[in-house]
Amino acid sequence: MVSTTQDSTARSGLAAGPNLASPSRGSPLDDRAEPAEGRDASAATATRSDNSTRSARSRDETFVEFIDVEKMYGDFQAVKRLRLTVGRGEFLTFLGPSGSGKTTTLNMLAGFERPSQGVITLAGKSVDRLPPYERNIGMVFQNYALFPHMSVEQNVAFPLSVRKTPKADIAPRVRRALEMVRLEQFKHRKPAQLSGGQQQRVALARALVFEPTLVLMDEPLGALDKKLREHMQIELKQIHEMLGVTMVCVTHDQTEALTMSDRVAVFDHGAVVQIGTPHGLYNEPATEFVASFIGENNALDGVVESVGAGQCLVALPGGLKATALSIGDIRPGGPVRLTIRPERIALSAGGGPTDNSHQATVDDRIYHGDHQRLLARLANGQVLTVKVGPEMAAATNETVDLFWSSTDCRAFPASAVADGNQPSIGRAS
Ligand SMILES: Nc1ncnc2c1ncn2[C@@H]1O[C@H](COP(=O)(O)OP(=O)(O)OP(=O)(O)O)[C@@H](O)[C@H]1O
Ligand SMILES: [Mg+2]
Repeated sequence: MVSTTQDSTARSGLAAGPNLASPSRGSPLDDRAEPAEGRDASAATATRSDNSTRSARSRDETFVEFIDVEKMYGDFQAVKRLRLTVGRGEFLTFLGPSGSGKTTTLNMLAGFERPSQGVITLAGKSVDRLPPYERNIGMVFQNYALFPHMSVEQNVAFPLSVRKTPKADIAPRVRRALEMVRLEQFKHRKPAQLSGGQQQRVALARALVFEPTLVLMDEPLGALDKKLREHMQIELKQIHEMLGVTMVCVTHDQTEALTMSDRVAVFDHGAVVQIGTPHGLYNEPATEFVASFIGENNALDGVVESVGAGQCLVALPGGLKATALSIGDIRPGGPVRLTIRPERIALSAGGGPTDNSHQATVDDRIYHGDHQRLLARLANGQVLTVKVGPEMAAATNETVDLFWSSTDCRAFPASAVADGNQPSIGRAS
């Protein structure tokens, strides 16, 4: 994607909010960072711990609220009756497949789009009549949207210039923002003379330099290679922790969402289907779509034989049976999909409840360095992926016993399955 200069100007001029006094900040990656001029080290330390205490304390306080927000494009409903809150100081990620409404939702919050229905509030006030530049929002885009003809320093200074910050304040604030992203030594370079990761850091410094109350990022790491992306995920998380600013990030990369976020809102077809902590979403997905979208899962289709005490007994093809947690409306005779994560299947019965056990044949063994993946074929022909340690020595064609606990196996009604959503791996039918 190539952004025009005009586009960059319009979007970088976002959030012409009040100029805030800038606290002293060092690089989140560098504990040796010097405090800024005019402040002593203890003041800098106090600022940092105040910020983290504040953010930890206030995440329960609602900062952004979507109240029954909808977005129509002609007859097409891109966002469906959205109710969502973002806590003050929270890092919330919108995660979902392409076209699920993430950018549209973010753009309504930024002010680039207007809701067709409903209200968005920021610090308790409706933003309906507030143009983007009055929302005090910093924005980071996938394509950086830097001004190619300006130096790094000039790019970062831009949001301050458009808000008429006194000239004397601009240089120290730009310097602090560049220190935070560790780019002081590149301040005279043009964007084209920087790597992708460095350009994205400039974009981040530019979004943070005027101390916005909210930072929005749309696929901020999408243009970076895997290694750099992983590095920047940690860097973003640390900057967020240090500043305590509220951040909303859009991604379709589930690892990114799990790594960076306090909470993740999972989008599908214009609706938030589940919102929760990374741990909660991974371990207790509420729908088969979430189970398959976040992390890897094996899927087994079957028919419910009996239900009771939150669990069900499911008949699989070929006369096999499995017990699982009932999620949603599970009834005897109804078709279900079972999901079980590869790391929750063991090759021995030791260490925990393992009320499901099945013989399987190893079809293939794939070495991944720190672990191996076995493709294990059940007696009925269904193939499960099993994640085991690097030393495990089961050979191809060997017969193994697979064990898993019914509490790790989730049974979803087939109505969710009929949605056309596919599991991430091991679809078996
Ligand atoms: N200006 C527009 N006019 C008509 N339809 C639009 C417009 N913008 C977005 N849409 C549609 O709205 C839906 C949601 O789009 P959106 O950009 O929010 O998706 P997304 O979740 O950000 O996807 P991606 O991961 O591909 O960026 C899509 O079906 C898209 O085609
Ligand atoms: Mg998008």
